[in-house]
Amino acid sequence: MAKAKILVVEDSKEIACLIEKYLKTLGYAVSALVVSGEEAIKKTEENKPNLVLMDIQLSGKMDGIEAAGIIRARFDIPSIFVSGYADKKLLERAKITEPFGYILKPFKKKELQSNIEMALYKHKVERERKKLIEEHMSDLQEYTKKIVSAQEEERKRIASELHDGIAQDLAALLIKLKKPNKKPSSNDQNLKSVTNGIAAAIEEIRNISENLLPSGLLVLGLQKSIVSLVNRMSKNHKVKIQFKSENILTTENLEKVKLPDDSKITIYRIIQESLNNAIKHSNASNITINFQKPKKNLKVIIADDGTGFDPNKVGSNCLGILGMKERARACKSNCTLDILTENGKGTKVMLAVAVEPVKSKKKN
Ligand SMILES: Nc1ncnc2c1ncn2[C@@H]1O[C@H](COP(=O)(O)OP(=O)(O)OP(=O)(O)O)[C@@H](O)[C@H]1O
Ligand SMILES: [Mg+2]
Repeated sequence: MAKAKILVVEDSKEIACLIEKYLKTLGYAVSALVVSGEEAIKKTEENKPNLVLMDIQLSGKMDGIEAAGIIRARFDIPSIFVSGYADKKLLERAKITEPFGYILKPFKKKELQSNIEMALYKHKVERERKKLIEEHMSDLQEYTKKIVSAQEEERKRIASELHDGIAQDLAALLIKLKKPNKKPSSNDQNLKSVTNGIAAAIEEIRNISENLLPSGLLVLGLQKSIVSLVNRMSKNHKVKIQFKSENILTTENLEKVKLPDDSKITIYRIIQESLNNAIKHSNASNITINFQKPKKNLKVIIADDGTGFDPNKVGSNCLGILGMKERARACKSNCTLDILTENGKGTKVMLAVAVEPVKSKKKN
């Protein structure tokens, strides 16, 4: 196995030589000996050691705690502090950099060895765990992407079957039934109620198919589609959904904001899922949609004053929030999604989408 490379940061020459001697006899390689935090960062970048033994009081402007923090954040390389001091304040500051050990001077060779071995092992395990989590996250992202795209395809298929199939058949039937009947009969009343029933069924099918696939979205525009979605949801679920518009973009001028189709679909689907969730889960008395347009972003906030929830306890079979996140991630315009929620404090879904700059019309 290759020797572990250790960077020694120590401004006392005597102690630095002692540490170097110990390290060599213990079978480690010393990547460099430096006296300041600035040099420690430089040498870490150049030699990529496996570990840093870091004195706290150093020559130069930076102390060992600051240097260790930078080295950990920038290169993910662990440090063990080697110091003659261990007062409470110092330990508190050192803790924040998540050190892999703290050795008090004077120390013995064995103590140095056990601290180094523990730190190297701990860091190896931590790296493996991080890698595993990254792999899981990327698998999860891949699955969600497939689910979102399959969902969109399936919605398209069902919507067109409903709209072009069943609704058309019913519409044809309705036309036949509405043809003037030359001989009025006692069945007229029955016929009328069947006709009304079919008309209502057609309306319902169109509603469902519109929810599945907002056909008007790209033709009629985002604003009309959102208003129509909100009207349908309010009517179907008997809830009040309001557009909030103090100092804000109103739905009326939403159309003036330049957005690529991809962003329109993302916004529409995220509003739809957020409203569905607020209606289904929150028991809210107020649901609002708020559009804002600070500079280069369009912000949409869907808020409810309901139960709220703990995002860490969302079941693995719940696809709505995962789908929203995936849509935001996959959206071609820069898009961010944040969900603010807490048990008992309602939920705010906040979406920000980059907008295209409006081209000013040239005057003739
Ligand atoms: N606005 C909300 N208020 C209260 N709880 C919510 C809200 N939004 C989501 N939740 C909670 O988060 C969970 C996950 O939501 P998510 O949309 O991912 O799945 P779902 O709505 O249960 O199912 P679906 O996959 O059909 O969307 C919900 O089951 C619910 O417990
Ligand atoms: Mg949901």
